[in-house]
Amino acid sequence: MEAAEKKEISVENEAVDKSIFKDCSKIAFYRRHKQRLSKKSTYRALLNSVTTGKDSTRFQIINEAAKVSLLAEVYGIEGNIFRLKINEETPLKPRYEVPDVLTNKPSTVRLTSCSGDTGSLVLANGKGDLKCHITANPFKIDLVSEEEVVMSINSLGQLYFEQLQIPLNQRATKENEEDASVDNTQENQEELGLWEEKFGKFVDVKVNGPASIGLDFSLHGFEHLYGIPQHAESHQLKNTSDGDAYRLYNLDVYGYKIHNKMGIYGSVPYLLAHKLGRTLGIFWLNASETLVEINTEPAVKYTLTQMGPVAAKQKVGSRTDVHWMSESGIIDVFLLTGPTPSDVFKQYSYLTGTQAMPPLFSLGYHQCRWNYEDEQDVKAVDAGFDEHDIPYDVMWLDIEHTEGKRYFTWDKKRFPNPQRMQELLRSKKRKLVVISDPHIKIDPNYSVYAKAKEQGFFVRNHEGGDFEGVCWPGLSSYLDFTNPKVREWYSSLFAFSVYQGSTDILYIWNDMNEPSVFRGPEQTMQKNAIHHGNWEHRELHNIYGFYQQMATAEGLIQRSKGKERPFVLTRSFFAGSQKYGAVWTGDNRAKWSYLKISIPMLLTLSVTGISFCGADVGGFDGNPEAELLVRWYQAGAYQPFFRGHATRNTKRREPWLFGEEHTRLIREAIRERYALLPYWYSLFYSAHVASLPVMRPLWVEFPDELKTFGVEDEFMLGSALLVHPVTEPKATVVDVFLPGSNEVWYDSKTFAHWEGACVIKIPVALDTEQYELHYTENDFRCQLSNLEETLPFIYLNPSCL
Ligand code: GLC
Repeated sequence: MEAAEKKEISVENEAVDKSIFKDCSKIAFYRRHKQRLSKKSTYRALLNSVTTGKDSTRFQIINEAAKVSLLAEVYGIEGNIFRLKINEETPLKPRYEVPDVLTNKPSTVRLTSCSGDTGSLVLANGKGDLKCHITANPFKIDLVSEEEVVMSINSLGQLYFEQLQIPLNQRATKENEEDASVDNTQENQEELGLWEEKFGKFVDVKVNGPASIGLDFSLHGFEHLYGIPQHAESHQLKNTSDGDAYRLYNLDVYGYKIHNKMGIYGSVPYLLAHKLGRTLGIFWLNASETLVEINTEPAVKYTLTQMGPVAAKQKVGSRTDVHWMSESGIIDVFLLTGPTPSDVFKQYSYLTGTQAMPPLFSLGYHQCRWNYEDEQDVKAVDAGFDEHDIPYDVMWLDIEHTEGKRYFTWDKKRFPNPQRMQELLRSKKRKLVVISDPHIKIDPNYSVYAKAKEQGFFVRNHEGGDFEGVCWPGLSSYLDFTNPKVREWYSSLFAFSVYQGSTDILYIWNDMNEPSVFRGPEQTMQKNAIHHGNWEHRELHNIYGFYQQMATAEGLIQRSKGKERPFVLTRSFFAGSQKYGAVWTGDNRAKWSYLKISIPMLLTLSVTGISFCGADVGGFDGNPEAELLVRWYQAGAYQPFFRGHATRNTKRREPWLFGEEHTRLIREAIRERYALLPYWYSLFYSAHVASLPVMRPLWVEFPDELKTFGVEDEFMLGSALLVHPVTEPKATVVDVFLPGSNEVWYDSKTFAHWEGACVIKIPVALDTEQYELHYTENDFRCQLSNLEETLPFIYLNPSCL
């Protein structure tokens, strides 16, 4: 190992260092929003400016103090969706509007405007049961469904829109003054980070000054919110009033802290709110750094004796306020009006696409390690699975398989004959996945680098040269995947004739694509780096990884001439990434708490469209004891993407290295996965065609049962299986909550059965796998194709197939 590389690894291995990553107090636009909001200045809609076009209704909004004239557009979209766009009416230059996320231009439905009282405008969708009630002064929108106000926008007056400005030293006159509502004195400049923002040794210079936006949404009667991944946090979103906001900023955070709202690898700026009788969604289409504050307060506090039925409590006005803030771009927000959870899933996937249908093999078990060292190692591990009679489908190779971390190449000493190695795997119907990261080693003799350089395919720094940063290969440049030409070229690199040593059993893993830049600000790219179309990195940071996976998936489709479904795993993601493959939760730790948090983290991804998700089984960093490893396999077998992975300085942990008994338990867990493969495949088909998440929180299946709303230690797979993994060491008993007063639940091993709506205590030992319970109103027996003699019949609910 080179010295530089050793150093990078030790940087990676440090515990999460607070001085590397920002909390909210270190984010200038957050401070500005706070300062501005303490001064309350209101916006007014000019309803005499209303024009109705084919697609939308437009009007101006003004703020006297800030001298801002904004243009608002309201669209009705097929399937009970409203879209609200707010932009500067005449920006100095265009502001970034996120492209490529919406699957098609969403079909609009004509909104009819009914006159409201003086000072208001009512826009109704076709049937008129869904209305947008716009109040002029102060500007506010109420979303009314069947006469019930379900959401209010800007009712707290948090609309904030900073206008682009000409730098002070380039101004001819003084006419372009900054927002007068902001204290813009010299002393305050640094604190507000208007034109430059310091963080440690980094200075972020903003060519057109501050450009942030913000808006509040009040959700009436709602106390349960979910979504906005990725955070190592509970499934139900927490109140942020006494701490940091949820941050959406894609970052490489090795061994991230759990129960923390800092941004990690991916972002989906989309949340769902649920109450008895209604589910709603808010999709904030913005790819710049974003913060979300949540404030839930039941309007009336009851003492125990006063507690009436919960429905009554909701009627008297509990409410959750959500405050979205983004560093730049425009306000472009979709309001998904449900009313059921499955309606909201459909509405969201109508906008961003459904889960790609995975190839069947990718639903099996994957074996990974940083690194399987050479061809011999691969052969031995592969043989180990056969010897121990453990099924697996995919062998993985990490960065060391390449020639000095030059992706698309092979280390000639370790892997002298990659095709021979793949033929061995192929002979057992197995596959290979190799890694391909977005940083490209600066080396004129490396053809990928030379060609990209020649064609100007790298992200540029603000001085106009290629951006250079350090990552695994040392000094590297970063492909600009936001450029369609770069994506087209990158896709072509996967052609069998171009990617030497690749065969049709080789699939791809995109990593470090936040992008990770060692020694960069917060381990990522400077915000003033420049992308295709002259856009600053700050505008699109959160969508960079999305584009790499998009180009990779396209490459795999093209190499098979459109015949095969691709498999691409990505670490970074954005809204809509589900169209391109799978996502995992990055560099977790071999600790019980990380096994436990994998459930809410995966549930959150699942309800925000990303069904194909998983966590590294065993925990990436550290050495799991045998009990933890077994428990992790037992849990992972029932999570959508099922891969064992470990970092390079850990002990080897192939399933047979922990003694016969533990090997047997891991074998059984993996076999259970295989026994259910047809069920998994069917669930993915439902996700693909009908937008239903594969892994479902209980509230999705039992939306009328308040008790399910906060459950996150168990979940449903489809609508037939309830899974309660054991996530505590030395557990002797687990409390399993069985929802559904009309349901009958069957233990999959013993066939014991219970009526729903109760908590049962199940004694467990290590060979008691986690509890999967199956329910059905209409039982039938289904023998699955891979079923081993020793495994039980599986009960399925026909309606979920
Ligand atoms: C990152 C990935 C990890 C991978 C390593 C080396 O830390 O998250 O899965 O093994 O890089 O490529």
